[in-house]
Amino acid sequence: MTRSAPVIAVDGPAAAGKGTLSKRLAEVLGLPHLDTGLLYRAVARRMLDAAMDPACSSGETVARALVPDDLKRTDLRTPDVDAAASLVARDQGVRQALVDMQRLFARAQGAVLDGRDIGTVIFPDADVKLYITASARTRAVRRYMQNGGSETAPDREAHICEIEQALIARDHADSTRASAPLRMADDAVKIETDALNAAEVLAEALRITKAALERQKA
Ligand code: CDP
Repeated sequence: MTRSAPVIAVDGPAAAGKGTLSKRLAEVLGLPHLDTGLLYRAVARRMLDAAMDPACSSGETVARALVPDDLKRTDLRTPDVDAAASLVARDQGVRQALVDMQRLFARAQGAVLDGRDIGTVIFPDADVKLYITASARTRAVRRYMQNGGSETAPDREAHICEIEQALIARDHADSTRASAPLRMADDAVKIETDALNAAEVLAEALRITKAALERQKA
């Protein structure tokens, strides 16, 4: 596909910091940003609201009826939606319904998209592919802090452990499903973020992105 503006794919496991990075990367590069996890979360939310069990019913009809306001809901990041979104994401019908939406999003102005299958399925010809990762422990601590957890709470360790177990379960489900499993694209560049703060991850991602875009121009 010939494109006038770049598409940047950012994939990786749960709570690796893809969202924060992608938002900043898009701002710096002047590109639109789509957090594709919100699409699966919005389908899951609507199904839970309608008392549909994502383990047993298909969400394809719900996915086809999504509207932009669904992505603006403030109740898309609860633990029940985390788990339901991962179930919804196994559904081939749902994934198919969301493919065109994601491709159309980037068509006019390019985009930074973050998710699990952007570099492998949605945009296998993306101009830049990044794979953001960190240990389960690091990711659990980050998610704990992101959810407003306190450094000094007596039950801090128990909370982090619980989050870590849920992340590991979700990573396992996401990487072993038949349809568009989480995996690093062969031509993606991996950024291990255990020892990096958000500004350092952004700097590294920008360095890789600019070098790749320069190479393409040459
Ligand atoms: O923010 P976090 O990393 O916890 O998750 P997310 O990116 O919001 O994604 C929620 C769930 O949606 C994931 O666990 C995946 O099951 C699914 N997902 C997917 O299958 N494909 C994508 N491109 C994005 C998310």
